[in-house]
Formats: sequence, C-alpha cells, structure tokens
Amino acid sequence: MTRRLRVGVLASGSGTNLQAILDACREGRVSAEVVLVLSNKPDAGALDRARRAGVPAEAVPSKGLTREAHEEELIARLDAHQVDLVCLAGYLRLLTPRFIGHYRGRLVNIHPALLPAFPGLDSQRQALEYGVKIAGCTTHFVTEDVDAGPIILQAAVPVLEGDTEETLKARILEQEHRIYPRTIQLIAEGRIRLEGRRVLTGSPPPGSRALVNPEA
Ligand code: GRF
Repeated sequence: MTRRLRVGVLASGSGTNLQAILDACREGRVSAEVVLVLSNKPDAGALDRARRAGVPAEAVPSKGLTREAHEEELIARLDAHQVDLVCLAGYLRLLTPRFIGHYRGRLVNIHPALLPAFPGLDSQRQALEYGVKIAGCTTHFVTEDVDAGPIILQAAVPVLEGDTEETLKARILEQEHRIYPRTIQLIAEGRIRLEGRRVLTGSPPPGSRALVNPEA
C-alpha cells in the first residue's frame, strides 16, 4: 500500500500550485497530506488557501533575521510537523546549503521553464524574448546549484505568435498544476530511482507524440 506522505510547502505568492496539490490530495489523486504551509510573506495568498483547506499555515518573515536564523526557524517548524517531503511552490528566497542538505532527496521545486533553459527569475519572459517555439515547466530535486537538480517531470507547451508574458505564463501554469501533484505521487509510490542525474520511474512511455510548433 502506498504510504501517505507528510508534505510541507514553502510558498511566497498566490499559491495556485499549492492549491493544485491540496486539491489532488483531497481528491485522492495523490497519496499525501499537506501538513504545514510556511511563507516568508505574511500576506501570501498561499497562506489563505492553506487555512481555507484546514492546513496549518504560518508566516515566518525573514526581516530582521539572518538567512541562517530564518532557515533554522523553517527547519524547526517543518521538523516539528515530521514532514517527509518539502515542496517549494513559488518560494522566492534562495536556500542555503544547510537547508538543502537537511532535506536532501526530500526537497523538490517547480520551475516555469524547460530546464536547463531559462533558470532563475522571469523564465517565461526570457523564453518569449529568446524566441523559443516550445516552452514548459519542470519539477526537480533541489540541490545547491540553483534550478539545476535532477529533473523529475517536464511538460511542454507551444509558444504562440500572439503570446504576451501573461498568456504564456497562464499556459505554462496550467501544466504546472498537472505535473506537481504527479511528481508528489511518484515520490509517494516510491517509484523514483536516481541514476547519476537521471530520475527513473519505470513509467510507461507517454501516449502523445512529439510536439511540433508551428505544425505547418
Ligand atoms: C510558478 O510559476 C512556479 O513555477 C514558480 O513560481 C510560480 C508560483 O505560482 N516557481 P503560484 O504561487 O503557485 O501560483
């Protein structure tokens, strides 16, 4: 039987990825339970979403604390809730090696680009300005190198000629909401095996063929 994972989520923003995870857990699509949501921003929408779902939600402002002291506070709260997995969902602070090491192999992130392209901030704008025809999102394990840990899942979307940063963001976000819960489920099922940088899951090949853009 798949064990229900205890998940802690760190978020700084509106929390639509958190919402997708909460919904998937509630609907039984993911064998996990979000046990704690932490934010460095007291007014983050993610905290409201957690509270509406009956999940403990706490703000841990970083102001006035060193980066190390702030992270010790996060670790103390996450560990007090005995989390098995920490999910970064729009958490807008860089983490120190201490935090990353403490949760090694149990810390995942979602990034709105097909890594290793467009790491860092404003990935969707970078993709648009670069002129790529296919964009997307990636879930990955977090390592000390920013946005460079082993890739778990990716989803691709076309970039359309009329796209603005906003329309592209929305198209990618829709896929983020699909792949983040699936990533957590793969971990809950114990399906993940690391071979060097490669994450192997034993999943059957995808039904869809290559995405070609433009098609004609
Ligand atoms: C997402 O695009 C995620 O990939 C990035 O930050 C954004 C967070 O959005 N890391 P939300 O707060 O989950 O709506």
